[in-house]
Amino acid sequence: MLAQRMSVPKRVVRPSGASRPDFSTVAASPSARAHAKILRVTVSAAVDLSVEVGALRLSNPVIAASGTFGYGVEFAHLVDLNRLGGIVVKGLSLEPIAGAAPPRLCEAPSGMLNAVGLQNIGVRAFVAEKLPALRTYRTAIIANVFGYSVEEYVGVIRILDESEGLAAYELNISCPNTAHGGLQFGSDPQMVSEVVSAARRASRRPLWVKLSPNVTDITLIARAAEEAGADALTVANTYQAMSVDVQTRRSRLGRTTGGLSGPAIKPITLRLVYEARRAVKIPIVGLGGVETPEDVLEYMIVGASAVQVGTASFTRPDACLRIAADLEIACVKHKINNINSLIGSIQVDSA
Ligand SMILES: Cc1cc2nc3c(=O)[nH]c(=O)nc-3n(C[C@H](O)[C@H](O)[C@H](O)COP(=O)(O)O)c2cc1C
Repeated sequence: MLAQRMSVPKRVVRPSGASRPDFSTVAASPSARAHAKILRVTVSAAVDLSVEVGALRLSNPVIAASGTFGYGVEFAHLVDLNRLGGIVVKGLSLEPIAGAAPPRLCEAPSGMLNAVGLQNIGVRAFVAEKLPALRTYRTAIIANVFGYSVEEYVGVIRILDESEGLAAYELNISCPNTAHGGLQFGSDPQMVSEVVSAARRASRRPLWVKLSPNVTDITLIARAAEEAGADALTVANTYQAMSVDVQTRRSRLGRTTGGLSGPAIKPITLRLVYEARRAVKIPIVGLGGVETPEDVLEYMIVGASAVQVGTASFTRPDACLRIAADLEIACVKHKINNINSLIGSIQVDSA
């Protein structure tokens, strides 16, 4: 849906028309008004922020990332969930998982480490206790799914598939395959192919595959997922990392090693999105260190159709909403009328 055309006087960015419910008041927020005063731009049209990830249409490209936004409903008193492009819920397994020993989080320069151990209430409790409230929102709800065998992935999807209210599945393939000596599914094209094909057969809902960045060549993994039937790729998960307390000579994480996230990883993941974009035709959702609307634009320029926001929600629970709200202002600043025109628009001088 194209944004309602409107004429806006010089130096003023007006709220969008009432026909765009998701952003009708966003541009009128105090922060947006402050930006508008600084911008001093001429605006002749509102910005169309809606994007498509395959068959899924989102009102804007900013999605809350798995594991950093609970099951979504816990944030409902802080954030108008209807204004988000989408919500990816905490990873779901067949049975509940208690998670790793504390400490589970520690700060790192420009980011943080986590070793949560995929703690979750299990897929059945999610369907019974969280999904009924979640499905009352207009926002696309994406279920993040994981397992320690192909059968477990399929089992979770089968249970979710019996319920209404989910827009897509996102397979977290950064999980050890117990049948293959604990090797991560996402590190081997053959295992990626097996788990994605099985998930594809289990449901007709859109299937996103969330890649691990801890691989030598992401293009091999991206192609394996595409050929096995993925509708989109999420690029990427956290980077294996570690932090040590010199005094105690112990890791700052209960599980010794963990995953690095936040602004520190953005340039690295940006490159992964750029490489994956050139390897596959399916849409890519960029994810890693997004904190500002400019970060969203960068990811889209290298080929992402949408982005997810993770660690930023730990600093500000309303980070996704603020980024989405300020995105319209950033587009005006850069004279972008339709955000889709950015996707893959990177100019390169050499291959
Ligand atoms: C505390 C925490 C928990 C996470 N849990 C999950 C999870 O359950 N499933 C998953 O696919 N990714 C999980 N992630 C990874 C994030 O979704 C995201 O891929 C990563 O943090 C990079 O994005 P960011 O730099 O914006 O945080 C988790 C990340 C953090 C920080």
